[in-house]
Amino acid sequence: MFVFKAGVVGAGVMGGEIAQVIASADIPVLLKDVKQEFVDKGLEKAREVTEGQVGKLVSKDKITQEEGDAQIERTLGLITGTTDYDGFGDVDFVIEAVPEKMAIKHEVFADLDAATPGHAILASNTSGLSITEIGDITNRPDKVVGFHFFWPASYMRLIEVIEGEETSPETVQAAANFAQAIRKMPVRCAECPGFVVNRILASTASEIWRYQDETGTDVKDIDKALTESKLVPMGPFYLADMSGLDTALKVAKDMQDAYGDRFYVHRGMEELVEAGHLGQKSGKGFYEHS
Ligand SMILES: NC(=O)c1ccc[n+]([C@@H]2O[C@H](COP(=O)([O-])OP(=O)(O)OC[C@H]3O[C@@H](n4cnc5c(N)ncnc54)[C@H](O)[C@@H]3O)[C@@H](O)[C@H]2O)c1
Repeated sequence: MFVFKAGVVGAGVMGGEIAQVIASADIPVLLKDVKQEFVDKGLEKAREVTEGQVGKLVSKDKITQEEGDAQIERTLGLITGTTDYDGFGDVDFVIEAVPEKMAIKHEVFADLDAATPGHAILASNTSGLSITEIGDITNRPDKVVGFHFFWPASYMRLIEVIEGEETSPETVQAAANFAQAIRKMPVRCAECPGFVVNRILASTASEIWRYQDETGTDVKDIDKALTESKLVPMGPFYLADMSGLDTALKVAKDMQDAYGDRFYVHRGMEELVEAGHLGQKSGKGFYEHS
């Protein structure tokens, strides 16, 4: 299946960059959120990423400034922001990137089922919810698939393609093909909480979070020790801030519910989320963000 037009629902931490990735591959894409201000934030993110990528090419003399400007205009011109589903009548592939809550996913998938043509594939960027359960709300569970990007989506190449119980082999193959068309690396994986990467990541982070709660060590010192030893490109507390603490906390809780106490929910993170400090997207988390 060829994707002539795509859609992204949710223009938050992930959605704006996912739309940018699709537009960079010369595919027109709709970017939907519930309010214009959220759509605008997603579009601004797409601009920031595109300008950064083009700026690097210009500074390395790979393209001229004029060519770079034209590239920015072309890429951003392929992204259309919207607060409704009016333009979704001719999309071929939609990626949902709304908050990690089944009730919200169900609302969006029911809307998408009604708004998109029957052949369209409906993909979820969920970090670990059941694709089967998400697909159950639609009349096309065979065309519902997990399509899990990693933050930052414009940079990270991996996409986990997750097969629900009803997902057809054709849908899985079309999703893997689309991942390659947008210059990503698809890896097919089975449906289980956390899939592959988040299961490993949350397991490792759990020990660090447990250690921090038990010892009270400054989170910045832990992040610094891990980054300076070149174990990881950024520490787990900074990464959680950038990903969104509400999302990181929800994933941690889901992993503990699924696998028990070998997964840990960080108390400090819970307190920050309760106080409305969600990391970079709200300006404050474990760190202050300008
Ligand atoms: N943040 C990460 O690092 C990361 C990485 C991989 C996957 N994910 C997953 O991607 C999904 C989105 O995460 P995020 O961090 O971008 O969340 P976010 O909270 O930053 O953004 C979610 C956006 O969805 C919008 N939204 C809510 N209901 C909507 C609706 N009915 N229609 C359109 N938009 C709606 C919100 O207004 C918000 O702008 C989650 O399932 C999350 O688990 C997140």
